[in-house]
Amino acid sequence: MPPSTTRTPPMGWNSWNAHSCTVTESDVRDAAAALVDTGLRDVGYEYLVVDDCWMAPETDDDGRLVPDPEAFPGGMAALAADVHAAGLRFGLYSSAGTETCQGYPASLGRERLHAEQFAEWGVDYLKYDNCGDHRGRDAVERYAAMGAALRETDREIVYSVCDWGTNDPWSWGRNVGGHLWRTTDDSVAKWRTGADEFGLGIADILDRTAALDIASFHGPYGWNDPDMLQVGNGPDSGQSRHEAVVVDRPLTRAETRTHFAFWCLLAAPLVIGTDLTALDAVDREILANERLIRIDQDPLGFQGTPDRRDATEEIWSKRLADGGGAVALLNRGHDVTEIQTRVADVAVPTVADRYRVVDCWTGEEWETTGELAASVVPRDTAVLRVTPVE
Ligand code: GAL
Repeated sequence: MPPSTTRTPPMGWNSWNAHSCTVTESDVRDAAAALVDTGLRDVGYEYLVVDDCWMAPETDDDGRLVPDPEAFPGGMAALAADVHAAGLRFGLYSSAGTETCQGYPASLGRERLHAEQFAEWGVDYLKYDNCGDHRGRDAVERYAAMGAALRETDREIVYSVCDWGTNDPWSWGRNVGGHLWRTTDDSVAKWRTGADEFGLGIADILDRTAALDIASFHGPYGWNDPDMLQVGNGPDSGQSRHEAVVVDRPLTRAETRTHFAFWCLLAAPLVIGTDLTALDAVDREILANERLIRIDQDPLGFQGTPDRRDATEEIWSKRLADGGGAVALLNRGHDVTEIQTRVADVAVPTVADRYRVVDCWTGEEWETTGELAASVVPRDTAVLRVTPVE
């Protein structure tokens, strides 16, 4: 059986965007404490994943991975135990090649050995990247080898396939034991990235998601992953120190809300990528919005799909388990606009004469016989939860 936590999209925190290659065990302990103190653990963020650069430059003589002795002097088992004691789950990173993206030892050809190490340490989640020499083996073979090795351990380990969408992982992710698979290049804390820049901005990822048209591959125990949340990131994030991208200003409030709203409408894994010890109140409130988290975690597990996209307005929607649906109204223009649609034109079953509507940002409620509308400022997104009235 797949881990029960993957019945809905996994939620948590990942070290990469906050700390890039300088991550230490005290950063991880601080993130664990912050997840608890901010209340984010209690709304569902439970996996704490250490990304690239946790390992020493050399394996031991048998090819085992060794935690970097300066950055992780206490070792991974002790760190995992502390993370578990905080009521959280612990994740690590490796790559389906000879080396990680930052040139550290990785797991190709040593899948069983490393999976056993992860299980012994108490690892609950593995993010498995696509860097290093592949030794001529194709992606399915490489990812299947680690999937099988993880299954052979006696631990439930969530398997996050990170091939950046390069080899259509949605079509084989479940078959290799994956529970989520990246669909795009790395997300960046920008609305759009330039042609020469690394990664994709939030609007770029929405365009890419619409074009991919892969919602049918997505659902309980196997999730399309448009990459980490950039909420809270800006010029000081690890990403801009590390990659060929200029993050000279953080996402605006409206852009940040659009980002989070869409990740929830897409039922994306919600993996926070910012330094939680410096999270401001506004970003915390966005990340902790329980109305939106419920839409992300809806038991049906549908990925929202576009109903209408034009130069100034975008409407996406998905069905929900309560018999209604969620509708996102994005203003892509430059003026405040009332964006309008009808129940019959979105993915809300037309089974009633009246519907209850809840604005997921404000909590405001009203009833409608079919018209749906919200006033939206530029680059912001309203999300309406629409439920038939019996
Ligand atoms: C990339 C991956 C990022 C991060 C980075 C670490 O390939 O997409 O999410 O893990 O490697 O080097």
